[in-house]
Amino acid sequence: MRTKYFYIHTFGCQMNVHDSEQLAEMLKARGYQKADSVETSDLVIINTCCVREKAEQKAFSMMGRLRRLKRDNPGLILCVVGCMAQQRGRDILKRVPYLDIVVGTHNLHHLPRMISEVEGGRKGVTEIGFHESIASMDVISLPGDNGVTAFVSIMQGCDNFCAYCIVPYVRGREMSRESSDIIREIETLAAHGVKEVTLLGQNVNSFGKNLSGGQHFPALLERIGEIPGIERIRFTTSHPKDLSDHLIRCFTTIGTLCEHIHLPVQSGSDAILRRMKRGYRAGDYLERVERLREACPGISITSDIIVGFPGESDGEFQKTIDLMGKVRFDNTFSFVYSDRPGTAAEGYDRKVERQVQIERLTVLQSLQAGHTEEKNRKMHGTAAEILIEGFSKNERTDLMGRTRTNTIVNVRGNRDLIGNLEMVKITETYMHSVRGELLAKKEALTC
Ligand code: SAH
Ligand code: SF4
Ligand code: F3S
Repeated sequence: MRTKYFYIHTFGCQMNVHDSEQLAEMLKARGYQKADSVETSDLVIINTCCVREKAEQKAFSMMGRLRRLKRDNPGLILCVVGCMAQQRGRDILKRVPYLDIVVGTHNLHHLPRMISEVEGGRKGVTEIGFHESIASMDVISLPGDNGVTAFVSIMQGCDNFCAYCIVPYVRGREMSRESSDIIREIETLAAHGVKEVTLLGQNVNSFGKNLSGGQHFPALLERIGEIPGIERIRFTTSHPKDLSDHLIRCFTTIGTLCEHIHLPVQSGSDAILRRMKRGYRAGDYLERVERLREACPGISITSDIIVGFPGESDGEFQKTIDLMGKVRFDNTFSFVYSDRPGTAAEGYDRKVERQVQIERLTVLQSLQAGHTEEKNRKMHGTAAEILIEGFSKNERTDLMGRTRTNTIVNVRGNRDLIGNLEMVKITETYMHSVRGELLAKKEALTC
């Protein structure tokens, strides 16, 4: 039988990227091979996001582009999976009738069976129920050639219901995986050459709440810190309201835990944070940042910020700018507020005009650009340890690695170095990356 090829296009967050990796693993186990493009595929999967309206528009526009391909090749199987599929279900089929399969976030493991059904002649197959556990979460996606970094999902869903956010509705209730399953997965990854793991969850700080035996996130990190071969641990995302002193101490006690935390603040105004239902005030956030920096002076702190939340006045926006001035984030991801169906904020009045939202975003992003540039400039002439992940995106002759604080470093070097921890001296700094030169000697670099 002829080999069949699949192509997956992923929108959205790291969790979606990891879901796509697990889907790819399931398909490979059934004899499918990865294609280089949609044109050479028998099966095209769009893994969708719906966190903002723009993310949905991107997915619909990709579906539109695939229409002609499907007309020219009716045997091509088109699947839409992930968060938007979960949210809209069969309604997507009304808008895009030439889709073959729609699968939500809890049913990815059903995809291979659904593909067989479509091959057998069924049309418009959907699966969007919620389950207690997600079978695909236990699929281990092994890294490809030279792969040294891997994502590991430690929990699913979210119970926080921030007023603006659709994630709890499309990812379901919060549920942690058993620590022993997570440890076993990371040991397997280490045995296949993985050196760095990034633990994924919408709020990793509440890991273990549904588990027996008092399992919690710092204890999980401590166990992962003991796994031979794992030289670096990262995690995302932390909710500021649950960031414990124990977790902060982990940055000093676990040698392999990288000095970087993504800690979304969303706003610097207490009134807005209350309306967002975030469960902390700006002062609490600043106190947590201070504790982090006391414990680990070199720690890199990144964040997410929403501008133009309903009712946000100029003064309240200014409070966000003031907070940024106090924290001086290494980097931020900032977004214009987008109404999401079914969320609390959708029903809020005093929506901020689009033009005002854009102006605020521009102000905020140019302030952040200055802060990021300054942080990078300070790295000039310093030495740092990088894990070489592969070739640089810009120039195939260069290698790319990351510092423990998550700055991208491009460096000239031989491909044999991929997978190594190397010391570099930073020689040039830019907005999104820096350049370095390899140093001969390796020195320890923790806080
Ligand atoms: N679990 C993570 C965030 C997941 S969504 C956390 O709690 O931090 C990623 C980011 O998208 C959020 O941090 C927020 O800044 C942004 N976001 C979520 N919903 C949004 C909306 N309706 N409009 C604009 N940005 C939104
Ligand atoms: Fe969304 Fe809030 Fe949950 Fe993050 S913590 S996924 S922002 S509801
Ligand atoms: Fe991620 Fe988007 Fe879903 S941010 S959890 S892919 S809605």
